[in-house]
Amino acid sequence: MRLKNIPGAGEYIEKSHYVIQNPEKIKSNWNNEFKNTNPIHIEIGMGRGDFIIKMAINHPEINYIGIEMYDSVIFKAVKKLEKLENAPVNLRIIRMDATEINSVFEKEISRIYLNFSDPWPKAKHAKRRLTSPQFLERYTSIFKGEQQIFQKTDNDSLFSYSIESFKEAGFRLENVTYDLYNNMIEENVQTEYESKFVEKGTKIKRLEAYKTNY
Ligand SMILES: C[S@@+](CC[C@H](N)C(=O)[O-])C[C@H]1O[C@@H](n2cnc3c(N)ncnc32)[C@H](O)[C@@H]1O
Repeated sequence: MRLKNIPGAGEYIEKSHYVIQNPEKIKSNWNNEFKNTNPIHIEIGMGRGDFIIKMAINHPEINYIGIEMYDSVIFKAVKKLEKLENAPVNLRIIRMDATEINSVFEKEISRIYLNFSDPWPKAKHAKRRLTSPQFLERYTSIFKGEQQIFQKTDNDSLFSYSIESFKEAGFRLENVTYDLYNNMIEENVQTEYESKFVEKGTKIKRLEAYKTNY
């Protein structure tokens, strides 16, 4: 994500009711935050929010939480939400580095979306990939019931790395495709990065990873 520093972005997003301050105080209580018992799906690295905002609009029966680590990126998402006539009530945003995810959630998430995550191509940065064994381990305790991780990417190396990483960690893979647009799923909500890659003709890779929590 090309980042332009936006002066005042931090202060601006702090005032948005979408952006949760001190999310660690809500740990184990996210359903109370939404005032319902609906499943909670999160997107890690939501960028400017195209995907998660559309998902929240399309699925009022699901609660969504977008995680992103940069103020100026969240600022753009908040601006988009403010322009909507019927902004979704089932959406929250958390500004944090996902390495801290265990301080914020415990046994309450039903699905993680990882869309066009940074590939971190150098081996010495492998543990920063959002599908590294270190991240998969962190995710384990945030799930309620079956673990579900849905991934889309343009990046071949990240995709093969992720497949290996999921298999090593005992996940079952379903609906794996190396060319999503020639194997279209029922509902594909485009992300901002996805629309750019599709325009360039890059093949989009997608998978669903499942693991039962014992
Ligand atoms: C390449 S962009 C993709 C954005 C969006 N998902 C899309 O498909 O358009 C990756 C985003 O993930 C965020 N990100 C990367 N690592 C993260 C982490 N550890 N915690 C939170 N956000 C992260 C980056 O700041 C960036 O906005």
